[in-house]
Amino acid sequence: MKYRTIGVLTSGGDAPGINPCIRAVVRMAISQGMEVIGIQEGFDGLIRGEMESLRARDVGGILQRGGTFLRTARCPEFLERKGQRQALRELNEAGIEGLIVIGGDGSMKGAHALAGWGVPVVGVPASIDNDIWGTDMSLGVDTALNTIMEAVDKLRDTASSHQRAFLVETMGRRCGYLALLVGVVCGAEVILIPEVEMPLEQVGDAVEDAYARGKTHAIIIVGEGAKFSVKEVEDHLNTREVGFETRGTILGHVPRGGSPSAFDRMLATRMGVEAVEALLKGTSDVMVGLQGREIVTIPLEQVVAQSREPNLEFYEMAKILAR
Ligand code: ADP
Ligand code: F6P
Repeated sequence: MKYRTIGVLTSGGDAPGINPCIRAVVRMAISQGMEVIGIQEGFDGLIRGEMESLRARDVGGILQRGGTFLRTARCPEFLERKGQRQALRELNEAGIEGLIVIGGDGSMKGAHALAGWGVPVVGVPASIDNDIWGTDMSLGVDTALNTIMEAVDKLRDTASSHQRAFLVETMGRRCGYLALLVGVVCGAEVILIPEVEMPLEQVGDAVEDAYARGKTHAIIIVGEGAKFSVKEVEDHLNTREVGFETRGTILGHVPRGGSPSAFDRMLATRMGVEAVEALLKGTSDVMVGLQGREIVTIPLEQVVAQSREPNLEFYEMAKILAR
């Protein structure tokens, strides 16, 4: 398939790795003789016609930067046919013949909707949540994991010095992937995730038991979407007097920022190149994904119909090793 002009946009929650992916898309497409138009602020900017041509130099110096230099947005209008029709009009007016959408699971739904209007579209999964079906890893997950791991390591230093329990809340929307993995790599005493329900009493038992076994601290990771909030668990542990005094920390949006790790830069680069190649092969309505060591393309219809679940074997493993 021959394209003269393609567009690229970033949508939904940002994630470290999006910038190196934009760079790869732009330079790969230019190397194949295409013009690339950068659309600002996701589907919102598309509807408003906020876009400009990107040259190779325009994406210089962004490889190592977190966030997205095209900026991003959530766009409720795009959920409706009226918004999608307006987007189609803007694409036609700008002469954009194919589009690369970099974003989370919601953005993949948006990409699939546009493909339904006949626009050639390829999605690239980017979300720290790692909840996108069809890819082992989404862009930003590795960097976010490392950021959270560093924060927990630091909290453990102060926890041990004061003989305290620390509750740490991580983002993840409804997916416990980040919390679970951090729980393993930081040796957490307890991991609370949406996928596994644990009564407050049981959390108290585990922390009290850790104290009785002579631990100098206890780390409890609370994934966003878990049944109990950090405050609820903190109040329970302090009221029950489990041995450790308990403090809570909510990391909030911190893991969404920062310079992408080497893993994320490599994944972003491979996925960006593959997204352009997929368009050139005449493929549309697909997402690029990492499966094992390969970058593959998966129909968006399958991607949007399900969510990636964390591997609960890791949950059992963490429990055994928290002795
Ligand atoms: P993320 O892409 O990070 O999951 P959102 O879920 O907020 O973030 O989705 C980003 C944007 O994608 C939404 O604001 C909306 O414009 C678009 N989108 C989400 N779901 C759909 C859908 N079902 N149909 C069309 N567009 C959608
Ligand atoms: O999807 C990424 C994510 O950071 C989730 O982990 C979190 O629930 C959500 O986005 C937060 O969204 P916002 O940035 O709109 O507060």
